[in-house]
Amino acid sequence: RREREREISCPRTPPIHKEMMRLNVQNGVVFGVLGICLINVFVNIFRIPQRGYRPRNLNNTSETTQPVARVELIQISHQFKNFVPVKSAFWNKRQHQMFQLVDLLLETSGVYIPPRCQLTDGHGSIDNFNTYPQPLKDFVRYIGCRHFPQLIDHPRKCQPEPFLLLVVKSVVGSFERRQAIRETWGKEGKVEGLEVRLVFLLGSSRGEGYGPNLKALLGFEDGLYGDLLQWDFRDTLFNLTLKDTLFLRWADTHCPGARYIFKGDDDIFLNTPALVSHLRSLNQTETSSPIYLGQSILNASPLRDLKSKYFIPSTLYEGAYPGYMGGGGFVYSGSLIKPLYAVSHYIPFFPIDDVFTG
Ligand SMILES: *[C@@H]1O[C@H](CO)[C@@H](O)[C@H](O)[C@H]1NC(C)=O
Ligand SMILES: *[C@@H]1O[C@H](CO)[C@@H](O)[C@H](O)[C@H]1NC(C)=O
Ligand SMILES: *[C@@H]1O[C@H](CO)[C@@H](O)[C@H](O)[C@H]1NC(C)=O
Ligand SMILES: *[C@@H]1O[C@H](CO)[C@@H](O)[C@H](O)[C@H]1NC(C)=O
Repeated sequence: RREREREISCPRTPPIHKEMMRLNVQNGVVFGVLGICLINVFVNIFRIPQRGYRPRNLNNTSETTQPVARVELIQISHQFKNFVPVKSAFWNKRQHQMFQLVDLLLETSGVYIPPRCQLTDGHGSIDNFNTYPQPLKDFVRYIGCRHFPQLIDHPRKCQPEPFLLLVVKSVVGSFERRQAIRETWGKEGKVEGLEVRLVFLLGSSRGEGYGPNLKALLGFEDGLYGDLLQWDFRDTLFNLTLKDTLFLRWADTHCPGARYIFKGDDDIFLNTPALVSHLRSLNQTETSSPIYLGQSILNASPLRDLKSKYFIPSTLYEGAYPGYMGGGGFVYSGSLIKPLYAVSHYIPFFPIDDVFTG
């Protein structure tokens, strides 16, 4: 039946991203969407390498998931403050409350201790909350929750420090895509003589309304490949900003020395050797200014069409989007991990993860 579904669905629909993405970065570094059909070509010929199965204790919740007591205080630029119009929309209000808090803390030399998970009362905060689609309701309710236990970790992934860390957003059920990536553009090891490492970012697989329980299979997969990072939250579109932030926190602790980070989806194809050569040709030193490279999306604004996957109501956010790199795949310098993580505490989560990064 699966074979048949494949035949039926492949020729017609590029099944994953409707907005097929093609990034032309200099020197012929091309990211493009690899449809599921092509991925199946790879998957049909895969063989599991002989590395043996190490059972994992999946009951263990790593230490690194406890909320940090205090976080670095930062200066927020006037440019950014002016960028967020003072409006009554929910997100804008929250951001301005944060600006005020930061000013106050700077004046009084206070410290910022982020609150633990506080659920937001949507009906109390947003007039037309009952008209929001359910995923957005969930988003608003959990906007103040940034800490979830880590279930699978690889704290030594970046020892020795890689030149390029490939970070792929995946979901537990998408084993075939991960395997295709491992066997093609995400292969760990030396590329053009430089070390490349791979991790996949995953939410929960525990069943109980979070999708089927694939915990045991996932443990097996990780035992074979050792490239999964998993946290215990519901893995949905509007939790991708949460996933991003949990990754930044992980990278700040375990991978601050990676020279470059590539962050992308699991349904794309990346020309890894071309990217590595391009990055090497930049000839950056420790003190060079950091890079943020990808398909730049400038002057975008929220979509107000209720039918759009990326619908953002005007009572949630008012204003334009900052310039950002399309989330299908972008690259940034490892030296940005620390500042990005620090800044992330002072910006309310936004439902669209690449906009949040921008
Ligand atoms: C995990 O917890 C369950 C139930 O608490 C227990 O039955 C199981 O043996 C534990 N597994 C490991 C690997 O410790
Ligand atoms: C869980 O893992 C951490 C880090 O690997 C370890 O220090 C801790 O002892 C483990 N806890 C349990 C209950 O197994
Ligand atoms: C994000 O994850 C949390 C924790 O699992 C869940 O309660 C919440 O509903 C999720 N948010 C969205 C938008 O799915
Ligand atoms: C790289 O930079 C160093 C010093 O900044 C310079 O000496 C060298 O010629 C550069 N190499 C290339 C290939 O541009």
